[in-house]
Amino acid sequence: MDRFAIVLAAGKGTRMKSVREDVSKVSFPILGRAMVEWVLESLKALNLNQIVTVVGFGGKTSEALAKPYGEVVWQEEQKGTGHAVMMAAPLLENKEGVTLICCGDTPLLTSKTLEALLSSHELHGNALTLLTANVDDPRGYGRVIKKNGRVIRIVEQKDCTPDIDAIHEINAGVYAFDNRELFRYLKRITPNNAAGEYYLTDIIGMFVEDGLKVSSFSIADVAETMGVNDRYQLSVATKCMRERINKRWMIHGVTFEDPDTAYIGPEVKLSRDTVIRPNVHVLGKSFIGHENVIGPDTYLENVRVGERNTIICSHLVDTVIDDDTHLGPYLRTRGGAHIHNGATIGNFNELKNTDFGEGSHCLHLSYLGDTSVGKDVNIGCGTITANFDGETKHPSEIHDGAFVGCGSVLVSPVKIEERAFVGAGSVITDDVPSDALAIARSRQENKPGRSPKAKKD
Ligand code: UD1
Ligand code: CA
Repeated sequence: MDRFAIVLAAGKGTRMKSVREDVSKVSFPILGRAMVEWVLESLKALNLNQIVTVVGFGGKTSEALAKPYGEVVWQEEQKGTGHAVMMAAPLLENKEGVTLICCGDTPLLTSKTLEALLSSHELHGNALTLLTANVDDPRGYGRVIKKNGRVIRIVEQKDCTPDIDAIHEINAGVYAFDNRELFRYLKRITPNNAAGEYYLTDIIGMFVEDGLKVSSFSIADVAETMGVNDRYQLSVATKCMRERINKRWMIHGVTFEDPDTAYIGPEVKLSRDTVIRPNVHVLGKSFIGHENVIGPDTYLENVRVGERNTIICSHLVDTVIDDDTHLGPYLRTRGGAHIHNGATIGNFNELKNTDFGEGSHCLHLSYLGDTSVGKDVNIGCGTITANFDGETKHPSEIHDGAFVGCGSVLVSPVKIEERAFVGAGSVITDDVPSDALAIARSRQENKPGRSPKAKKD
């Protein structure tokens, strides 16, 4: 049977209370991935025939997020979930098959659950199967009304009477529909309810009245059904997602000293015997090899880390680190830095677009930008590459075995060649040849007795 999906992502997300007009609720990120992308990733794994995302409020952002997964249709005015599904009619209406409808604000749903829902739907030959859950706190959700164990309709929170309000079985907002029946009945729903919206959930009662087969599919892990409507729920969903991800890596052989303060993104890969210490973020497309110690207090984004490195209290973005390095505390790297085997880069240093060679050292308070540093180089405390002349950036080269004395400024473009030695406090404007000693500072003059503190007797 052909399988389609519609993702509802047009809503304003009023309860997020954002002041921005260009950001939809479904584009709020969880561990660096937008909520709607989490949903679309789960759908992608099901190999469906077609995925249609409905965007509207802040739709340009949502459209860009959803495009890679399938088609996008616009709901210019948000008149409710039923109205949103109607927007997909031109693409799907006449097709034979089953249509999965998900909300873009339920990021915790797994493909396993969605597959189970579809299979149950197809197995029982239903016209509609809806995902439900028994939750402790059902407030805000549509309640499932049953008669003799069968679903007869859904009542939205705003339309609840006190007895319905007490029902704990909720509509998760995920449905498997017979596609043709879905679009046939959508034409009949009206906005006669407390919110004045076209509720998709009204179709359920209509199906039941007309004798179409409706079943509920109850999910054991209720956390999966969580809808994110406000920023508190966003934080709860983020916590759930973190727990899932961290648990998976722990089972895989990664140590987390404090999983409650570890934020590992969905596209990150960790390897065995690596230790994640407290307060660590690893985000983006990062790869961390074996036996590294990361943290505490470290942020890594789009980094590739080899093996046996220690990275303490540092902020590394778009960086490659080979093996056996010691980095931090307080190192910042960005813009395509590459740190080779056995390097040590310690306290309060910044590397931008810099290649830092094997076994080289840079232990304190330096800035290296657009620089290539060879092997076994020593960069003294407080070395600065002056790589920007106000208009353009220029490169610096520091070759194998060179030594740059403390407090030097290398005015780029400039080369310090093999084994050259730069005296402390130099301002280097010209290349230094191999094996040369360069001193570029004015000579010291001592004036006897002229100290203001000198003894006056
Ligand atoms: C909806 C369900 C409710 C269910 C809950 C599960 C309806 C009427 N209610 O309520 O039964 O328990 O989800 O989380 O369906 N959207 C649009 N266009 C619109 C309105 C909404 O695309 O005009 C999208 C939103 O972006 C969101 C989704 O539909 O992703 C759900 O909308 P929301 O307003 O959050 O519905 P709930 O009140 O949570
Ligand atoms: Ca919702």
